[in-house]
Amino acid sequence: MALFSSSTKSIPAPANIPKHIAVIMDGNGRWAKKRFLPRVAGHKRGVEAVRSMVKSCAAAGVEYLTLFAFSSENWRRPPEEVSFLMGLFMDALNGEVNKLHQNNIRMMVIGDRSPFSPDLCARIEAAETLTRNNSGLTLTIAANYGGRWDMLQAINRMALASTAKAGHFSEEELAQYLAMKYAPEPDLFIRTGGEKRISNFLLWQLAYTELYFTDTLWPDFDQDAFDLAIQSYQKRERRFGRTSEQLTEG
Ligand code: IPE
Ligand code: IPE
Ligand code: MG
Repeated sequence: MALFSSSTKSIPAPANIPKHIAVIMDGNGRWAKKRFLPRVAGHKRGVEAVRSMVKSCAAAGVEYLTLFAFSSENWRRPPEEVSFLMGLFMDALNGEVNKLHQNNIRMMVIGDRSPFSPDLCARIEAAETLTRNNSGLTLTIAANYGGRWDMLQAINRMALASTAKAGHFSEEELAQYLAMKYAPEPDLFIRTGGEKRISNFLLWQLAYTELYFTDTLWPDFDQDAFDLAIQSYQKRERRFGRTSEQLTEG
């Protein structure tokens, strides 16, 4: 498994196309409401936007795509909506995994699986196992994920397993216990739906990520919307603490 350096410890090589895009897919409910449809109709359309996003990323040469599908706080929603979302996740796994596999996509799921049904856990494991050796896009679904959950589980496991004494842990070591240890830190973060917040997504890994917020609702996030996000990313100057002059001096 590749070891990735920490953006606060070394500077990643600049690239025109982000290697890793992380997305908060927000606005499904409002998309439905605008059409006088139940909220869950928005979630259904959201799955189509996921398909389109996966295609766009694979075509553009993005190597990692991470999608926030269900947060550790989304259990606070009405029980009918929560169970609809679980069902939708299960259906998407059943319906899409073979296609992902045929397209050489590796699928991973991060988050606390303990409240999931045994059926759902088995489907997730089957999908990960089937696609494990694929060398194309790595698609990560964050399900019952929370940035704080991730950091705490990492710290707890590290404290138990590490040969370093407490007081001597390093960033690089902690990163190896995070749920997404297999991916470099995101270069580009996209949040649809107009809100400008992180909502407990990847707290550790977003340290130097370029943030992009759009009012476009997730079900409307199509190829054109993707292109706009990439164009915005390409205009950014990623300094990682240095001055602008240092960058142009090379
Ligand atoms: C995002 O859309 C999907 C999930 C959180 C599962 P929302 O359901 O949050 O949509 P809005 O924000 O209510 O429009
Ligand atoms: C964030 O969206 C979580 C996902 C997209 C899965 P929310 O709609 O739950 O976020 P808040 O509650 O508006 O911050
Ligand atoms: Mg929302």
